[in-house]
Amino acid sequence: MRVLVSGGAGYIGSHTVIRLVEAGHDVVVVDDFSNAKPTVVGRLEALTGRPIPVHAIDLTDTDKTEHLFAHEQIDAVIHFAGFKAVGESVAKPLAYYQNNLDSTFSLLRAMDRHDVRTLVFSSSATVYGAEPELPMTEDLPTSATNPYGWTKVMIEQILSDVAASDDRWRIAALRYFNPVGAHASGDIGEDPSGIPNNLMPFVAQVAVGRREQLSVFGDDYDTVDGTGVRDYIHVDDLAAGHVAALDTVGSRAEPMSVWNLGTGQGVSVLQVIKAFERASGRPIPYEIAPRRAGDIAASYADPARANADLGWRATKTIDDMCADTWRWQSKNPNGYPDA
Ligand code: UFG
Repeated sequence: MRVLVSGGAGYIGSHTVIRLVEAGHDVVVVDDFSNAKPTVVGRLEALTGRPIPVHAIDLTDTDKTEHLFAHEQIDAVIHFAGFKAVGESVAKPLAYYQNNLDSTFSLLRAMDRHDVRTLVFSSSATVYGAEPELPMTEDLPTSATNPYGWTKVMIEQILSDVAASDDRWRIAALRYFNPVGAHASGDIGEDPSGIPNNLMPFVAQVAVGRREQLSVFGDDYDTVDGTGVRDYIHVDDLAAGHVAALDTVGSRAEPMSVWNLGTGQGVSVLQVIKAFERASGRPIPYEIAPRRAGDIAASYADPARANADLGWRATKTIDDMCADTWRWQSKNPNGYPDA
């Protein structure tokens, strides 16, 4: 298939581009580079040995999106593009709702006009809300605790309604747990701008000397050691999950499918720190800080549905995730170059 990857220059998108090419698909990237560096593209081309066509446009621009579909022969879309910082979404709710919803509307309309009705959407375990049952199964009710999370809940609802409206659609929403790690080459990885919001890039920047110490947000949760527990999944396993979903969704009986992509294993913040110290051979200084607003104690997937329907499972351990993150971070201490 010729697959349009929106947000294909971003963290998860770039790893998925590599997996798609390896699986024999053609890829077209669309990215507005608001949260990605153009230099990732040359690295993708070097790793895949292929030119990667890139459209540097904002999908909320309906004319440009239409033009893209009119000029590229697209068979299917993987839609990663979107704003994703939880805290920023609380400060700028309108920007989040407008960007994440408008880009999806623009994309869906262009797809429909051009008879492209196979879509894999980048959703999140955040749709399980504030007090989820564990492990999380796809049948749990959805809700959110911040505007970013609500955009995921809302887009899933929109996709489900669109899928129900016309049996030619085949749509998958993939609910990611906590993606971490990097490509085995160390040339592609997560490059957050500013101070990292998420644990693994923060830990990696402490290890490489860019930050002095980590704040551990709370040590009084009802978990194995009091710190927050998450289901960390290697980004390369996650990327493989997208290829499996794309290859499966077209032959599904129902127009809309939802799959958790996680390992099913919970790992605490202190366990991540220890694993990173082993992988890097460096100490990770930390202090215990107050809980972060909106955090839940524990989150981990029941990945059984994806395992069964997609013939996919996460294969990499927390040690693999830390080793690959460290290879990326130590090879690229300041992330991607500007040019
Ligand atoms: N944490 C720290 N210190 C930090 C950063 C994080 O102790 O500097 C802790 C958090 O409190 C939490 C764990 O590390 O216990 C993981 O935090 P992350 O920010 O890495 O990940 P979250 O689970 O909070 O958020 C992720 C995604 C969101 C998504 C959410 C729910 O980043 O996009 O999962 O699915 F909404």
